[in-house]
Amino acid sequence: MYPKEIPVGFDVFVEQLMADIDSVEGHLSAKEIRFLALLAAVPRADGAILEIGSFKGRSTCVLARSAALIGDETVYAVDPMTAPSETDPDLRGAKDTLADFRRNIEAAGVADRVELHQTFSYELAKTWDRPLRLLWIDGDHTYLGTRLDLEGFSPHLNDGAIVAMHDVLHEFDGGVRVMMEHILLSPNFGACGFVGSIGWGQYLKDTREAAKYRDQKLRLYKKLSRMIPFLTMRKEPLSGFEKKRYKVARALVPHGELKPQEWLRLVR
Ligand SMILES: C[S@@+](CC[C@H](N)C(=O)[O-])C[C@H]1O[C@@H](n2cnc3c(N)ncnc32)[C@H](O)[C@@H]1O
Repeated sequence: MYPKEIPVGFDVFVEQLMADIDSVEGHLSAKEIRFLALLAAVPRADGAILEIGSFKGRSTCVLARSAALIGDETVYAVDPMTAPSETDPDLRGAKDTLADFRRNIEAAGVADRVELHQTFSYELAKTWDRPLRLLWIDGDHTYLGTRLDLEGFSPHLNDGAIVAMHDVLHEFDGGVRVMMEHILLSPNFGACGFVGSIGWGQYLKDTREAAKYRDQKLRLYKKLSRMIPFLTMRKEPLSGFEKKRYKVARALVPHGELKPQEWLRLVR
């Protein structure tokens, strides 16, 4: 069993980290940054950290700086850097995000701690052979893209590893469906939840152990299922009264800040 130790001075560290990456473009909110930093700094298994979808390096910096707190760890990142998916941020005329990515990880002091694979996640999955302790999915947010990311790398999850996916509570159905169908309904995930729009779950090899979480996973499943009619098979973006109703359904999903000690009580 992994020690449940929060690094000394973690809160101060995270405040400094947030100030340092303030100018890096991206969509991670303050509470999401605090949570991602926690996932990287407090391992629940042996293995590597893999980030799918780096854009200009905001989450890469969080992962690499936080992992460095506990040793000399490399963070692996995969992104073609060309925003190929319909759910990607706009490149605003730029050809790719590579130069911004490199500049930002350099400025954050983690350039030598990040190994970038400039390709598609499903291509990397074909040759990937490292066991993982944290899989951070923030690439192609369509249902197929997110599902392929989870399926492609879940064979490499070590017992106790954490899977975290960004934008699960946003206005497209990819992440939320993968969270429901492939994490909450999987016999191999234990503690699960949300912080901001990050959906997370702990992979447990022993399905008897994971079965103890069945009821709480199904309660969360039921709450998420209320969002599906607003998101799936839409031709137009949500607007007006429909959007308000979607937001009410989403508000019923607990996704507030999770203090480090609270999270450690939930996971193994
Ligand atoms: C939402 S952004 C990532 C944001 C980043 N994690 C951050 O914190 O700012 C999505 C990124 O995923 C990348 N992407 C899209 N499809 C991908 C795929 N199949 N494999 C890897 N990366 C992908 C895009 O190039 C884009 O940079």
